Amino acid sequence: TNYSEPWAGYLVQAQEQIVSASLSRLALLFVINIPLIAVGLNVLYQMLPRDPSLPPLVFHWIPWFGSAAQYGQDPVEFFVSCREKYGNVFTFVLLGKRVTVTLGPKGNDFVFGGKHTVVAAEEVYSSLTTPVFGSDVVYDCPNETLMEQKKFVKVSLTTDKFRQYVGMIEDEVTQFMDNEPAFRAYQTSNTNEWGTFSVYKTMAEVTILTAARTLQGKEIRDYMSKGFADLYHDLDHGFTPLHWMFENLPLPSYWKRDDAQRKMTEFYQSIMNKRRAGNPDDYDDVMASLMVQKYRDGRPLPDHEIAHIMIALLMAGQHTSSSSASWALLHLADRPDIAELLYQEQVEHFGLPGGGFRGMMFDDLKKLPMLDAVIRETLRMHSPIHSIMRYVRSDLPVPQGLAAPSEDGVYVVPKGYTVMASPALSQLDPLYWKDANMWDPSRWLDASGFAAQARKQYDESSKVDFGFGLVSKGTESPYLPFGAGRHRCIGEQFALLQIGMVISTIIRRVELRYEGPFPKPDYSSMMVTPQQPCDILYRRRK
Ligand code: HEM
Repeated sequence: TNYSEPWAGYLVQAQEQIVSASLSRLALLFVINIPLIAVGLNVLYQMLPRDPSLPPLVFHWIPWFGSAAQYGQDPVEFFVSCREKYGNVFTFVLLGKRVTVTLGPKGNDFVFGGKHTVVAAEEVYSSLTTPVFGSDVVYDCPNETLMEQKKFVKVSLTTDKFRQYVGMIEDEVTQFMDNEPAFRAYQTSNTNEWGTFSVYKTMAEVTILTAARTLQGKEIRDYMSKGFADLYHDLDHGFTPLHWMFENLPLPSYWKRDDAQRKMTEFYQSIMNKRRAGNPDDYDDVMASLMVQKYRDGRPLPDHEIAHIMIALLMAGQHTSSSSASWALLHLADRPDIAELLYQEQVEHFGLPGGGFRGMMFDDLKKLPMLDAVIRETLRMHSPIHSIMRYVRSDLPVPQGLAAPSEDGVYVVPKGYTVMASPALSQLDPLYWKDANMWDPSRWLDASGFAAQARKQYDESSKVDFGFGLVSKGTESPYLPFGAGRHRCIGEQFALLQIGMVISTIIRRVELRYEGPFPKPDYSSMMVTPQQPCDILYRRRK
């Protein structure tokens, strides 16, 4: 080209325009395709040779998001399908976190029995619990402090207290059935009329009322219909997987959560002030006990810590107990033959000659094998907490025998990962349980059977005191509904009493039926609940 020609300038201009148009098109294409490029690079990355000491990585298309959809929709099914491909130990990506799952009894032991200096609960749970419970308690304090706080509460969870609670729980359930519009067919005394009640809604209400009357104290129970229930709901709506993943978002549910937390704390504080102004010795409940106890270093619990522990107890016991009681009633409604056995057990132990029943005592509860079996079997099939997690603070070798050893010997879970166990899976695993997916309380009645042995192992395996009394040390049992080790549940005995009393009180009064396909588990909230609607039919007993 002769650039001195007059038309050459136009040519150069045209060339430049073509180049710049192509570049901007390329840039646009690049921007549009960033997600595709990210997916491609993510897939390529997964195909590269991996460090053989790392547990296998579950294949996923979308970086950061990982396997969140499959895990969130049905964690148990997700674990089963991953186990088929990768074995008992594998890592999956969950919204930017690398989570190593360890399945089976040995996997449970690995997570529950891990040393606290190596695997920690607070780093995993605090973003969810601290805004709801409040500061300086549970996962917002050193683990040693949590152990002391658990001890403070356990002081109030004694057999003596439980003896008082039995009548209170029966009374609350009776009042509820006598007054709730959903139980109109029961209230009319017409023994031929069937009514329905939403089991999950009803159990949620009964659980909070009974917990308020017993653990939370008189003032909270009295305030339940005057605003406390609304505060609880706002707090509860801030206790979801979204709030766990993103601690603070500019959304109404977050503002309401924070507002409810503050108001609830103030409410507990005002109760303490009133009690101090009167005669504190008039009270004999969890709050009264927290008000007089001291940490090992002699420090009394500040009021805000007492308030936050009370909130933590309320939240820890609410969905766990209400969903367990709901599942138990659903199964009883679905299996009238088993409900009848349970009813006959009540008649045999408490039936009065002229009809009706005598009140139950705490010590009676231990003599009711059918009731016990119904609750144990329900907890086996419907563990409210499906995943137990800990943050890995330093590289953690996976014991041989838990996973097939990698080429280099053992898998190592790197620092910064999360480890996860799922007793919910081992409790449903056909490897351990005959007819694992069948709700069959009778499996607990055979003292030499597998279930009874698993329970014995859970209750009686080697014990250790982490600071709040003796607990099983992190057992290898496939049955761990209340966890194990230093984070083991302290509410177990109370929950068994509460659920047992709720079921007995209802079963004494009404027959139950369930029609339609049995509800599936709903994993979308923090606890496993029955999918709604789940209405139970009932009829007043003759
Ligand atoms: C811990 C289950 C009721 C208070 C736990 C854990 C499980 C569990 C599995 C261990 C969590 C972990 O290791 O990360 C249940 C079930 C319940 C129930 C299935 C009812 C059916 C209650 C009640 C209370 C309560 C009624 C309170 C009165 C606690 C506390 C912890 C705990 C304070 C200790 C948390 C820690 O140390 O990190 N529960 N729970 N639970 N639970 Fe429960």
